[in-house]
Amino acid sequence: MLLALESSCDETSVAVVHNGFVLANGVASQIKLHAEYGGVVPELATREHLRNLLPIARAALRTASGAPESVGAGQSALALAQFDAIAATTGPGLPQALMIGARAAQAMAFALRKPFFGIHHHEAHLYSPWIAPEAAGGQPGIAQTSLLRADFSRFQPNVSLIVSGGHTMLVFVEAELKHHLLGNTVDDAAGECFDKVAKLMGLPYPGGPKLDALAEQGDPRAFDFPRPMLRELHHDFSFSGLKTSVRYFLRDQPFILDDPDRVRDLCASVRAAIVDVLVTKTVRAAKRLGVACVTASGGVTCNRALRRQLAESCAEQGLLLRLADKSLCTDNAAMVGILAERKLKHHLPPSSLDEEVKPSWPIAPSRVPGM
Ligand code: KG4
Ligand code: ZN
Repeated sequence: MLLALESSCDETSVAVVHNGFVLANGVASQIKLHAEYGGVVPELATREHLRNLLPIARAALRTASGAPESVGAGQSALALAQFDAIAATTGPGLPQALMIGARAAQAMAFALRKPFFGIHHHEAHLYSPWIAPEAAGGQPGIAQTSLLRADFSRFQPNVSLIVSGGHTMLVFVEAELKHHLLGNTVDDAAGECFDKVAKLMGLPYPGGPKLDALAEQGDPRAFDFPRPMLRELHHDFSFSGLKTSVRYFLRDQPFILDDPDRVRDLCASVRAAIVDVLVTKTVRAAKRLGVACVTASGGVTCNRALRRQLAESCAEQGLLLRLADKSLCTDNAAMVGILAERKLKHHLPPSSLDEEVKPSWPIAPSRVPGM
């Protein structure tokens, strides 16, 4: 039984993981709080993590025990002594935000004399596509009707796209726990591009989901926007030029924003440009590396066009596609716990209880030679 904490950015999350099953995955999102400022304010994020961590942990312990939400704090909940290990994200992320979850987990591990696993946030994302909803039944004594379960029996080498408000990267997962960075964004992340374009259009933060919804009724061929780095064979991304071209487009034709049909066309055209780049480069990387599987995770993986286009392109190319479940695309502790469990299963040593958080922590020391 593993307890996992995640607090690297603006989600406070606590999960209970047992033998591949996610028994609880509580998440407190701070989106509404930061919306007023148009982006994540680190000091506010830290305060909210402090405020939310214990209530979320208590609720997770109750959920994992199958107790109803209505029971009081501590009643019928799993006891901390039942855990075999404690895990927390130790980087990369906002320094103070990371410290809240990491220090709490280290203190618990110290008090309980249990191993502590400091988890790399992006590595955890790599494992979220292997976690899927499944009906309960196999787990005696577990009351939930539907559970998330990680299934690594069909795991295979893959190219993984991690795409969110803070990151856009391609990783070659050669084997379980063996990763190589293929490419990264050289400027804005794809989610940042969605949010900044949405802001130019006057949509509230974070605008990505709203832009996606409007795009569903628009014509993706209405306006032609650049597909940055699409033709270049390396695996890096760049999205700031696309955002700038939308800014100039709206400077020259501000009246577009007065016509709801044209707004939907604009959303669809921008979305098509971003998604074309993400899908083309991801599928091309898989073909070049000769792997038969593609995975994707991170907040932008909720994007409908991205999910559809990845599915179409992978089917065309004969690639297996695993997308993170929509409930696990954004940051969560379930993926942190599942990765810690894989580390335990593969007999990797635990981390030091004194381990410092690492706000800038590369996912892998080097890129794949020749890629
Ligand atoms: O994983 P996440 O919570 O990461 C960060 O905080 O970095 O992802 C949030 C990002 C935001 O930029 C948000 O606009 C974007 O994911 N996002 C979407 C969609 N849903 C979330 N972008 C485009 N289409 C969506 N449906
Ligand atoms: Zn993330």
